Amino acid sequence: MEELVRKLEELRKKRRAFILAHNYQLPEVQDVADYVGDSLEMARVAKEVDSDVIVVAGVRFMAEVAKVLNPDKVVLHPEPASGCPLADYMTVEVIKRFKELYPNAPLVTYVNSPIEAKALSDIVVTSASALKVVSKLEDEVVLFGPDKNLAWYVSQRVDKEVVPVPPWGRCPVHEYLVSPYYLRKAKEKHPGCKLLVHPEAPPKSQEMADFIGSTSQMLKAIGELGAECYILGTEEGLSYRARKLYPNVEVYPPDNRTICIDMKKITLDKIVKSLETLKPQVKVDESIAKRALEAIEKGLELAT
Ligand code: 13P
Ligand code: SF4
Repeated sequence: MEELVRKLEELRKKRRAFILAHNYQLPEVQDVADYVGDSLEMARVAKEVDSDVIVVAGVRFMAEVAKVLNPDKVVLHPEPASGCPLADYMTVEVIKRFKELYPNAPLVTYVNSPIEAKALSDIVVTSASALKVVSKLEDEVVLFGPDKNLAWYVSQRVDKEVVPVPPWGRCPVHEYLVSPYYLRKAKEKHPGCKLLVHPEAPPKSQEMADFIGSTSQMLKAIGELGAECYILGTEEGLSYRARKLYPNVEVYPPDNRTICIDMKKITLDKIVKSLETLKPQVKVDESIAKRALEAIEKGLELAT
């Protein structure tokens, strides 16, 4: 491990590279990253980065967003097979069908989606910005995809119809492992802990929570709620980050199997290899990138 980190440091300098990581990444990847954050923070940081190369330690849609925001930079995704099963629900066919059914409704697309879906969307949001952005829209009906649980979270807090596109889109990690069953078990095991839940979790799990928010919003809530112990209702990588930020607070994932296999496909070894070879690079078709960028920029602007 030490030798890999030494090699990485050499290559980071040589390539003038910036390592941008998500809160769910492996501990050793979080430890070498220049920045670790949620999807909104990753996009904001990607927009400002002054380096020749960006390495995205996250899943494919995060690498695509970084590339669209940095068309002239080399953007590396060390493991192209690191996808997001939730994103895959948002197909072009699904979007076309719902646009036919609701021709006047804007399409608000969750960042966990393929770049082709973003190119067909009006606005791109993240879990941290979805509620704020949708609240600002004047439309009475809004198409929202692909996460049905985040769509439900927003629908409960706005005075408009939020149509899930498609009605069955969900993240398997949150749907099945951040379910009321696992949260109840975690609460029994760690009595007295506050429960923070990601809005990708099912409605019944959200109803059990003391706080609902994106991964970084949960981290902030730990500082603000001031409890001694927390269960973080999301992927287990966030607990590592929380323990680093708050060493005197007890933090637990719902279960030690609450793992996003795709996030864990990015390893130190693969990061070093990609910096050595400058491969695999993220490529996005120019016309798709142009349309997707408009929707991403609009979402970033409305999120402020
Ligand atoms: P955040 O933007 O809240 O970090 O969520 C990303 C994600 O993939 C959640 O599963
Ligand atoms: Fe996708 Fe779920 Fe993994 Fe997040 S945790 S990247 S939504 S599969």
